[in-house]
Amino acid sequence: MTVTRKPLSLFMVITFLATFATIHVHGQNSSPERDPLQFRDSLVQRNSELYNSPPGKPRPLVYDVTSYGADPTGVSDSTNALLRAISDALKGPSNGFLSKGIVNLGGAQINLQGGNYLISRPLQFPVAGRGNLLIHGGTLKASNNFPADGYLIDISPSSNIGSSSAFNYEFITLRDLLLDSNYRGGGIQVANSLRTSIDNCYITHFTTNGIIVRGGHETYIRSSYLGQHITAGGDRDEKSFSGTGINLMGNDNSVTDVVIFSAAIGIMVSGQANTLSGVHCYNKATGFGGTGIYLKLPGLTQTRIVNSYLDFTGIVAEDPVQLHISSSFFLGDAYILLKSINGVMNGVNIVDNMFAGSNKGIDIVQLDQQKGAFKEVDQVVVDRNNVKGMKLKATVARQSVQGNGKSWIADLNSVLLFPNRIKRVQYTFITTGNSFPIHALRNLSSNRVVIQSNLAVPATIFITADQGNSL
Ligand SMILES: *[C@@H]1O[C@H](CO)[C@@H](O)[C@H](O)[C@H]1NC(C)=O
Repeated sequence: MTVTRKPLSLFMVITFLATFATIHVHGQNSSPERDPLQFRDSLVQRNSELYNSPPGKPRPLVYDVTSYGADPTGVSDSTNALLRAISDALKGPSNGFLSKGIVNLGGAQINLQGGNYLISRPLQFPVAGRGNLLIHGGTLKASNNFPADGYLIDISPSSNIGSSSAFNYEFITLRDLLLDSNYRGGGIQVANSLRTSIDNCYITHFTTNGIIVRGGHETYIRSSYLGQHITAGGDRDEKSFSGTGINLMGNDNSVTDVVIFSAAIGIMVSGQANTLSGVHCYNKATGFGGTGIYLKLPGLTQTRIVNSYLDFTGIVAEDPVQLHISSSFFLGDAYILLKSINGVMNGVNIVDNMFAGSNKGIDIVQLDQQKGAFKEVDQVVVDRNNVKGMKLKATVARQSVQGNGKSWIADLNSVLLFPNRIKRVQYTFITTGNSFPIHALRNLSSNRVVIQSNLAVPATIFITADQGNSL
């Protein structure tokens, strides 16, 4: 055995060393891309290669903003230079059309060349009806006189430009940008556009919205970081954080792998069929008046929140109708508040989440019925969540009661979400006595399940009560 083992282990050592060497070489190869300075060099190099293409050969459409006079050191105002670059890009050659009336710019790029640009007016698009354009690779900072209601990048047409399309823009991509609103206005506005991508952006110092999406559909916000103040949590000024990280006032958008680290409201949703996934909100604790995700679409919510992390700040949903919250983690007594506006709640799943808190007895799901009780409730499932240091609430309660007598009562109020709404009960009656009693469910009002028998017997009763469906 030892003889055969020896060469084997030697072989393993060699394999291990070989693997290590491969990883090491890999690491060396990829390291230039991690170094921002060298990364910038490589971009510049790629661009000069593009521009050095022989005369007569059509050049790829890369609009380098410094060649328009933009100042990459962030000292002088680059607004006009950047707007000229945007204007040239939008008025560039057409490669046919995308959606009806949207000119395909063929993938033209506005390259910020790793610079930091000061701007005093929103970079708003001068023409409508364009698509397939990328703006990438640099920092934009609002100057001290930037309009307080403006957005650094404003994907909406300047006033009164007619568009032959139902939508303003299609497939505009904003990537690898740091947007600093300098506590004046917001970061990005997208209005009535299709298939906009916001990818790997860091948006800070906004006073209104980090990103606002108005109308249109399919704005996809990915792998981005938004915060009014740059903090890593536990900020002593957290009480005064204001503004909204992402404001979705449109349908069919998606927010994935996004962190909101400072704002009064992390994500505000007032359009349908949006999906939030991999969102980490620690924007402002509930105790300070903050909200992680606010769903302000009473009566037609149609929102999915999955795989997210609500960190000391919770979710508020007004009259939720079709809402799914699952596979998410709520930390620091964060909870879900279902708020009655017209007393409607229908098609709500809050399942398979984890809640952790500090043993203050905070309910994981709460009802706000200040404007009136929830009176139209159907298809609501709050179940299979787990808790640590918080109080479980559910629409399904399971309890066993034991006793020797003719009556057994299970009071399920501590778990059940609604005050008086058991729709269905199943129970198992187990008696060890010699007699064979007749038993029945006698009462379930006020979440108290009463089971009685005709004979006094020793019995254990397992009860499952469900408030979910009225069907
Ligand atoms: C059921 O219990 C409630 C109190 O929880 C009581 O007011 C009501 O009269 C009971 N109903 C019946 C039919 O016994």
